Amino acid sequence: MKQVFLETFGCQMNVADTDRMELILFHSGYRRTQEKEDADLILVNTCSIREKAEQKTFSLFGGLKPLKTTNPDLILGLTGCMGQQDGEKMLKKMPYLDFVLGPDQVEGIDQAVNRVRESKKPFVWTGFDIEKAYSIPEISGDLPKKPSPSSFVNIIKGCDKFCTFCIVPFTRGREKSREPEELYQEIRHLIDHGAKEIILLGQNVNSYGKRGLKNPIPFHELLYKIAEIPGLERLRFTTSHPNDFTRETIRAYRDLDKLVNHLHLPIQSGNNDILKLMRRDHTVEEYQELIDELKSEVPDISLTTDIIVGFPGETDAQFRDTLKVMERIGYSSSFMFSYSPRPGTPASEFEDSVPLETKSKRLQEIIKLQNRLTQEQVQSYKGKTVEVLIEGGSSKPGYSFKGRNPQYWRVNLKGDEKKFQPGDIVQVNIEKTSGHSLSGLIQ
Ligand code: 5AD
Ligand code: SF4
Repeated sequence: MKQVFLETFGCQMNVADTDRMELILFHSGYRRTQEKEDADLILVNTCSIREKAEQKTFSLFGGLKPLKTTNPDLILGLTGCMGQQDGEKMLKKMPYLDFVLGPDQVEGIDQAVNRVRESKKPFVWTGFDIEKAYSIPEISGDLPKKPSPSSFVNIIKGCDKFCTFCIVPFTRGREKSREPEELYQEIRHLIDHGAKEIILLGQNVNSYGKRGLKNPIPFHELLYKIAEIPGLERLRFTTSHPNDFTRETIRAYRDLDKLVNHLHLPIQSGNNDILKLMRRDHTVEEYQELIDELKSEVPDISLTTDIIVGFPGETDAQFRDTLKVMERIGYSSSFMFSYSPRPGTPASEFEDSVPLETKSKRLQEIIKLQNRLTQEQVQSYKGKTVEVLIEGGSSKPGYSFKGRNPQYWRVNLKGDEKKFQPGDIVQVNIEKTSGHSLSGLIQ
C-alpha cells in the first residue's frame, strides 16, 4: 500500500481541494499518512493570499528536502495558488520538486503522479480552461473517511471582483458555478453518509449562477432548493461579497429555519476612501444598511468579518473608522490581517506607506477590540441553553465532544459517550465561557 502525506495552507477551498486529492489518490491505491517520513508521495497545497503563508510553505519545503535526498523515489508535489502564480519560479527555487500544479488541476492529481513516475522529469501544470464547465465528478465506491457531520461543498470557484489587494482572481481564475443537479447529488450523498450540516463554499458564493450554468439559478433559489433535501439539518455558506448579497438572500434567512443564524460578510475597512482604493465598490453606509435589514429580519444573527489594516495610505483617522464600524456592528469574531502587498495586484503598485510598526500596532488594537466584543457576547450565553451539532471529540480536558451552535460559536460538551455521538443535535446548558468558546452539559 502506498502512502501520501498531505499538507494544506490557506482557505477552506484549499482544505476541500486537499480532501478531493485524498479521495482521488485513495482510488489509485494511496492511503493518507500523518508521518512525512513514511510517505511515498508528499503534496503541499499552498496559499498565496499573504506573504506569511508563502514563507510558511518555503520553510516546510526546507524540511522536506532531506527526505527526498534519503529517498529518491519519494515524489514531492506543490499544488494550489503558489503553483498557479509562480509555477516555473517554484521549480527553479526548489529543484528537488517533482511537479507543480495549480488549483484547477486538482482532478488531474493521479495523472500528474503517473507522469512523474514514467518520465522522471519535473514539470509545471497550471492554467485555466475557460471552456470547461466546473464539475466535480462523483467517485463511486469506498471513501477514505466518513464525511464530517459538518461538511463543505464547493458551489463556485474563482472570483471576478478584483479587489486591488487580492491575488485570488489571478490564482483561481474567473467565476464558474457548478450545476445545481450536481450539487444536490453531492449533498444527498454526504447526508446518506452521515453529514447533517452543509457549508456551501466559494470565494464569493453570492455570485453563484451568474456564469457557467446550463440552467442558471440565483444563489437564494439554490438555498431554498438545498434546504428541501431530506436529512439536511443545517445550512451555511461562506464567503460573501456585500455587493452580491441580495435582499432575497436576507429573506431566505428569515424563511429557512435550516439556514442558521450566522453570516460571514467581509467589510475589509470602515472608511469609504479606503474601500474605494480597495475597489470594494460599496460604502460603509451601504454595508450597514444591509446589516440593519438582516438584523431586522433575523434579530439573533451573529456576524463575522474580514478586516485589513495598514492598507496603502491608511491614516490613523481612517483606521479609527474601522474600529468604529466594528464596535457598531458588534462582530462576534473577525479574521484580522495586516496588509501584505501581493505581486501583480494593483495595490502592490501603490506606495506601501504605512510603516510595519504602525501596521502591527493597528492590528494589535483591532484584535484587542474584537476580543472585548467577543467577550461581551460570549458572556451573554452563560446559563442559557443552546443547540449544538456534535462534530467530534473535544481536546479540552474533562469534555467529551465538541460542536457548534447555530451562531457558529465553538461549544465543548460534557455528556455520556455511550449515549451521544458525532452527528447528534443536542441541547446544552452553558456553564462556562472562555475566549471564543462555550462549554456545558448535554441536557
Ligand atoms: N493583505 C492582507 N490581507 C489580505 N486578504 C486578502 N488579500 C490580502 C492582502 N494582500 C484578506 C482579506 C480577505 C481574506 C481572505 O484575506 O481580508 O477577505
Ligand atoms: Fe479577493 Fe475581493 Fe474576490 Fe474576495 S471578493 S476573493 S477579496 S478579489
